[in-house]
Amino acid sequence: MTSDPKIWRATVLTLFPEMFPGPLGISLAGRALASGLWALEARDIRASATDRHRSVDDTPAGGGPGMVLRADVLAAAIDAADAQGRPETLPRLVMSPRGRPLTQARVAELAAGPGALIVCGRFEGIDQRVIDARQLEEVSIGDYVLSGGEIAAMTLIDACVRLLPGVMGKLSSGTDESFSDGLLEYPQYTRPQSFEERQIPDILLSGDHAKVAAWRKTEAETLTKSRRPDLWAVRPVAPETAKKRKRPKNTTDG
Ligand code: ADE
Repeated sequence: MTSDPKIWRATVLTLFPEMFPGPLGISLAGRALASGLWALEARDIRASATDRHRSVDDTPAGGGPGMVLRADVLAAAIDAADAQGRPETLPRLVMSPRGRPLTQARVAELAAGPGALIVCGRFEGIDQRVIDARQLEEVSIGDYVLSGGEIAAMTLIDACVRLLPGVMGKLSSGTDESFSDGLLEYPQYTRPQSFEERQIPDILLSGDHAKVAAWRKTEAETLTKSRRPDLWAVRPVAPETAKKRKRPKNTTDG
């Protein structure tokens, strides 16, 4: 395992380390992993269990169904991962449907940093005391419940890795895609020009770059308004538009 401090690193704590790299070993992320543009380490939480049965979970205090991941075992796993890490400690995340929803902005922040230590939950949950004591940031990838945090962790890592320098190569740097400007992406077309009697919009074949850009902007806005009114309501305003905006009538300063 490389410990080059310059390389973006994902350290994953899981009960199923054999699930990694999984899809992260293929395609864009996989090629980048093989060429050393980022590093991945999947660590088995069970290796930090101390009893004879290597138990990692127990019944919930107060009763109820399922099992809860023990605070002492998980804290030991986190501390062991930290101890063998680099001078810089990684942001510590735990994947959970209770977490703050993951956004492209948070992904970009994480990608710009040294990497992430990601805890994958299983069972009914994780003892709250380890979340508090190790200051784990709870992150959700959406309002649905997976059977564990591993696939959620892969989602987060994939989203970060594609933003790392050199990973996308000649592809767009990620600036002209959904969410980068707070809008969903405009529709795309390619050959053939006619498909089942459906044509590529004429404007895209006009060669007029300004008109193409204006058409794409309108399409992105229309789509965002209808599909994601939540995103539309909080979209960032371009500086020119902000300047043109009327000031409140009773403003007296400046
Ligand atoms: N673990 C289970 N469901 C999850 C979700 N929606 N997001 C993150 N981690 C999870």
